[in-house]
Amino acid sequence: MVESPDAGRFINLERYPVHDLSDPLTRSLIARCRQDLEGQAFAVLEDFLTPEAVARFWDESMTLSDQTARREATRSAYLDTPDQEDTSWPEGHPRRQFFHTSWGVVADDLVPENHGLRRLYAWEGLTAFFSEVLQVRPLYRHADRFQALNINVLSPGDEQAWHFDDMDFVVLLYLTTPDAGGELECASLVRTDDDPCYDKVAQAFDGSYPKLHRRPSVAGTLTIMRGHHSVHRVTPVEGKTPRMTAVLAYDRAPNKREGDAINIQMYGERIREKIDAGFNH
Ligand SMILES: [Fe+2]
Repeated sequence: MVESPDAGRFINLERYPVHDLSDPLTRSLIARCRQDLEGQAFAVLEDFLTPEAVARFWDESMTLSDQTARREATRSAYLDTPDQEDTSWPEGHPRRQFFHTSWGVVADDLVPENHGLRRLYAWEGLTAFFSEVLQVRPLYRHADRFQALNINVLSPGDEQAWHFDDMDFVVLLYLTTPDAGGELECASLVRTDDDPCYDKVAQAFDGSYPKLHRRPSVAGTLTIMRGHHSVHRVTPVEGKTPRMTAVLAYDRAPNKREGDAINIQMYGERIREKIDAGFNH
C-alpha cells in the first residue's frame, strides 16, 4: 500500500481505494476501467474527488485564472489548418472539414507546489493506479514543465472541436459543473491504426455513428481517456460557470519533454521569455 495523507484527503477512498491495489474493490474497479477503455475508449469514475477537494481545487484554480493563456484555432479533426487543406480529397470529406475551437489553459509551471492538484498529481499511488488500469508498466508522469499538469478553462461560448488526440492516453479531472453544455462527445473506436475509417468519422460528425457517447462534465469526476482512435469533442459551454478540467499527462518514457516551439505555440510568448531568461526546463 502506498501511503499518502494528501491523497486520503482529496480522493473518495471509500468508494475508490486506489491507494491499495490489492483491495478486491480496487481490483474490480481496475477490471471495469479496462473493460470501458477497451469498449468505449474512456472510463468514468464519478465522485472520485471528495466535496472538500472539489471546493479546494476550485478556489486554488480561480487564483490562477488571470494567468490563463487564451487560445483559439480553426482546424480539422486531424489538426490540419485550413491553409493545409488537401483538395485531393472530395469536398465534404472529413479531411476537408474544419472546425473552430477556443479555450484557455494554465500551464504546469504556473501551478504552485502547495496546490492540491499538484500534490495529487505528484502522488505515486495515483500513478501506480493508472499504470495498472492502462497496463503500461512502468508509467511516468510527463516530465515537461509546461505540459505535465494543466488546467483547461472553457469559458461560456468556448468549445473544443472534433479531434483525435496525439497522445495515447490522458487523465481528466473535472473541477466544475457547467450550467449547461460542456459535454464530452466521443465517437468510440472510430478508426484503427491500419484503417482511418473516414465513413465512420463522417457519421460521428453528423451524429449518426452508433457508438456516439455523450457525458456531462460534473465536478469531482475523473475520466481516463484513450483518444487516439476515437474522435471526440467538447460541446459549447453555456451559462455562467466555466468548464475547468485538470489534465494530468503521463507517458511511457521517464523524461518526456516537448520542443520549445510547441510549448510557445500552446502557451504563448510568455514561454519564450521564460526560456530565454534561463528557465531550467
Ligand atoms: Fe482530446
